[in-house]
Amino acid sequence: MTVMQWSVDFFTGLPEVDRQHEALFALANRLHDANGQRAELLEQAFADLRDYVREHFALEERFMTESGLDAAYIARHRAAHDNFVMRIDELWGSHLAGSDTAADELLAFLTAWLMEHILHTDRKMALDVHARMGTGAPHNQFAHF
Ligand SMILES: [Fe+2]
Ligand SMILES: [Fe+2]
Repeated sequence: MTVMQWSVDFFTGLPEVDRQHEALFALANRLHDANGQRAELLEQAFADLRDYVREHFALEERFMTESGLDAAYIARHRAAHDNFVMRIDELWGSHLAGSDTAADELLAFLTAWLMEHILHTDRKMALDVHARMGTGAPHNQFAHF
């Protein structure tokens, strides 16, 4: 089931970031599919997504630092990433502790957060990176920003 549908609206114009976002969508859809199936499937899907999320956040944080973005801005973006990881770990913990609703809650939170974060925070980051590097992204990529 495709709960998270990838589209050009999510493009940042930073190829590695875009590639990883698309992969994150696929991992999130796999997690949706695994929900309600055998416990090992859900556990593996969550572990894979969580690992990839960490790798992806590290890439963005390195990228922001290397591009020389404002330190306070980087700190806020990093805090958003950290809060996301804390929240999904918390919900996963509730799921493992036997909650009947935590897995659904986790999926709803994760889906909404990823889309909102990419559409707003990551695309703003990309605009700032492009401005710094003098590599303007095509205008239509930010038509809805
Ligand atoms: Fe991102
Ligand atoms: Fe981000």
